Amino acid sequence: MITLHKYSKEVPVWEDMKKHIVVVGGGVMGRGIVLVLIKGGYRTTLVEVSEDVRREVDTYLTKRLDRDIQKDRISMADKDEILARYQSVSGIEEIENEPAVVIEAVPEVLELKQRILRRCNELFPQSIFASNTSSLPISRIAEVAIFKDKVIGMHWFNPPPVRPLIEIVTGEQTAEGVLAEIDMLARDLGKEVIVVKDFPGFATSRLGVVIGLEAIRMLEQGVASAEDIDKAMVLGYGFPMGPLELTDLVGLDTRLHIAEVIRDSGVSPSFEIPELLHTMVKEGNLGKKTGQGFYTWVDGKKV
Ligand SMILES: NC(=O)c1ccc[n+]([C@@H]2O[C@H](COP(=O)([O-])OP(=O)(O)OC[C@H]3O[C@@H](n4cnc5c(N)ncnc54)[C@H](O)[C@@H]3O)[C@@H](O)[C@H]2O)c1
Repeated sequence: MITLHKYSKEVPVWEDMKKHIVVVGGGVMGRGIVLVLIKGGYRTTLVEVSEDVRREVDTYLTKRLDRDIQKDRISMADKDEILARYQSVSGIEEIENEPAVVIEAVPEVLELKQRILRRCNELFPQSIFASNTSSLPISRIAEVAIFKDKVIGMHWFNPPPVRPLIEIVTGEQTAEGVLAEIDMLARDLGKEVIVVKDFPGFATSRLGVVIGLEAIRMLEQGVASAEDIDKAMVLGYGFPMGPLELTDLVGLDTRLHIAEVIRDSGVSPSFEIPELLHTMVKEGNLGKKTGQGFYTWVDGKKV
């Protein structure tokens, strides 16, 4: 049973949410979240420090919408309308209108997420702050908040336009109204929702990461090739994708961060990190985003 604080009056009402949403971080997850939001009718500002990434996001959004046109899902006019809802900036300070929700999708580093939360609270006292963290306790992130009741976990899955789930994580002080708003937002975007207590790794990462780590350990021990370990789970257990390919998609650095957070929390003894994961991250073999992980990736495709 999840106990939440009472609805806070400062929480923006549902109608306001249509007005403006901010996504911080335009990497693997942020760009996909932006696409879902602008297609869903939300005016969206991306905050991304890297100019290169901002350019990549522009290309990503255009390509994805062009594919929708080719498949007769949208018209040219729809594409223009959808893109008109989007803008990107390099810093939070550049945002002119207070957003109803800030969705944070920066790397899995507590201090970084806290710094952004603190700044958002100072600049946008009304906004809900929803973190896409895969493992960090929401209540830990919220420790630095001015408005702790407005902090919540909104955990998307990769790739956000395809995966139908959003895992909502309630912190110790998350207001009931904030949960209701994020639940409505997720459903309005066509997603299924689960609500989970603030345990390290929540429901999804805890199970997903443990299988991923064990698959890497098996590869390290020479149990089978990467392809065969993945095939074992796809054909043997009906997984849509093998755990090593999924680790490539997620990013080995991101997976390592998540595994360290869950291991250090002491919540379960199953999060010993295989040396191979450390080595590959040190060598910069981070998976699909760098072109090399357990597989080789060219133009976003596994070869
Ligand atoms: N990769 C996945 O499959 C996945 C799935 C679910 C949740 N998550 C979580 O989502 C979050 C982001 O993961 P990712 O894989 O998208 O990371 P990523 O490394 O691909 O992207 C992070 C982006 O944040 C940007 N950034 C860093 N500091 C910033 C700042 N101060 N302001 C604005 N932008 C900044 C970086 O330039 C980068 O483009 C993490 O918390 C991760 O645990 C990841």
